[in-house]
Amino acid sequence: MSMSSPHKIAVRTPTENYDIHVGQEVLRYFARGPATLLPGRKAFLVSHPTLLDLYGPTVTDALRQAGFTTEAYTIPEGETSKTLQTAAALYTHLAKCGADRRSVLCAFGGGVIGDLTGFVAATYMRGIPFVQMPTTLLAMVDSSIGGKTGVNHEFGKNMIGSFYPPRAVCTDITLLRSLPEREYLCGLSEIVKAGVIDDTELFALMEREVEAIRQRDETVLTTLIERAIAVKVRVVEEDPTEQGVRAILNFGHTIGHALEAVTAYEQYSHGEAVAIGMALVARLSEALGLCAPAARNRLYSVLEGLGLPVSYADIDTQRLIDVMAHDKKAIDGVVQFVLMRDIGTVVYRQQVPTDALESLLVEYA
Ligand SMILES: NC(=O)c1ccc[n+]([C@@H]2O[C@H](COP(=O)([O-])OP(=O)(O)OC[C@H]3O[C@@H](n4cnc5c(N)ncnc54)[C@H](O)[C@@H]3O)[C@@H](O)[C@H]2O)c1
Ligand SMILES: [Zn+2]
Repeated sequence: MSMSSPHKIAVRTPTENYDIHVGQEVLRYFARGPATLLPGRKAFLVSHPTLLDLYGPTVTDALRQAGFTTEAYTIPEGETSKTLQTAAALYTHLAKCGADRRSVLCAFGGGVIGDLTGFVAATYMRGIPFVQMPTTLLAMVDSSIGGKTGVNHEFGKNMIGSFYPPRAVCTDITLLRSLPEREYLCGLSEIVKAGVIDDTELFALMEREVEAIRQRDETVLTTLIERAIAVKVRVVEEDPTEQGVRAILNFGHTIGHALEAVTAYEQYSHGEAVAIGMALVARLSEALGLCAPAARNRLYSVLEGLGLPVSYADIDTQRLIDVMAHDKKAIDGVVQFVLMRDIGTVVYRQQVPTDALESLLVEYA
């Protein structure tokens, strides 16, 4: 198979300045590309045991070719690893191995690895270089971009953290071949979101290529991923610290987060919850006269075509509303929504009357 060289997408904000390298076999290009920007030649690879079983030699070879010595450190899979305790153990490991300000942390994994490693990179010796090597679709189009790093606290998800940009992001889409289906769908949900909030062409591509996407056709996936990254980069560049427009990235997430919380993060994956959230918020937008039924229908068709859910069952509506009122993005208990005007256009900071929300949830859940 011939390998085209990776595409570069630049991220430029007052505090962030790095490139996202996207394509097939991006890791092989590491020595010639991203590595040239890094100081020192000591790399610490942070990953999960299963990912190192699958790709350990590939990543280590890429780093070695660029002249790095590598030390691999693994953490157990799952959201429960994203804690201060795990971070503390990693600090200890780094200190014992003599990591210094010229050492590089490489986050090889999904959002859990990326957020945790980024947080450790931001805080160890007041900040050392790090590189994102996303391995899940969600991490490729979402969590590896925008500089948010952090860990969970018993009182809230992502409660402890900081904005800290990586030196580079290496997005190798061939890694998706081994990604479990449920994780793949999770990322697709965020790509649908990217289309709805800011890219009609991306959305139309998903409509046309539903089958190829389900088959993980890498030509289609490359375009899809690049466009979704571009959406997030545009939004982040416009609003790096989440003062305004960055809120649109939350489309479908207010209801989605509430669904996850009410079901104790067990029933729905994040992507499934967001898919349901997007579907319901489209209904809400329609009910409020903001969006035409045809646009809402297009969203439903794409979600269902990809195999994502559009409704929930057996959840108490009032509990859902209570959780939303306590959402960290609610202002004085009033829930803020990102509503849809059309495919490609949304409006944010919309306060929705509780009765409108309630009747929607009762009718369509
Ligand atoms: N920083 C941000 O802006 C941001 C944005 C969105 C989400 N997040 C965070 O991201 C996290 C979720 O990330 P996620 O959805 O990537 O989940 P994840 O990191 O838990 O990864 C999911 C699972 O897939 C496995 N896996 C990963 N890549 C694989 C591959 N190529 N082949 C086979 N298996 C693979 C992993 O071992 C893991 O068990 C959450 O903690 C969330 O808070 C952060
Ligand atoms: Zn999300």
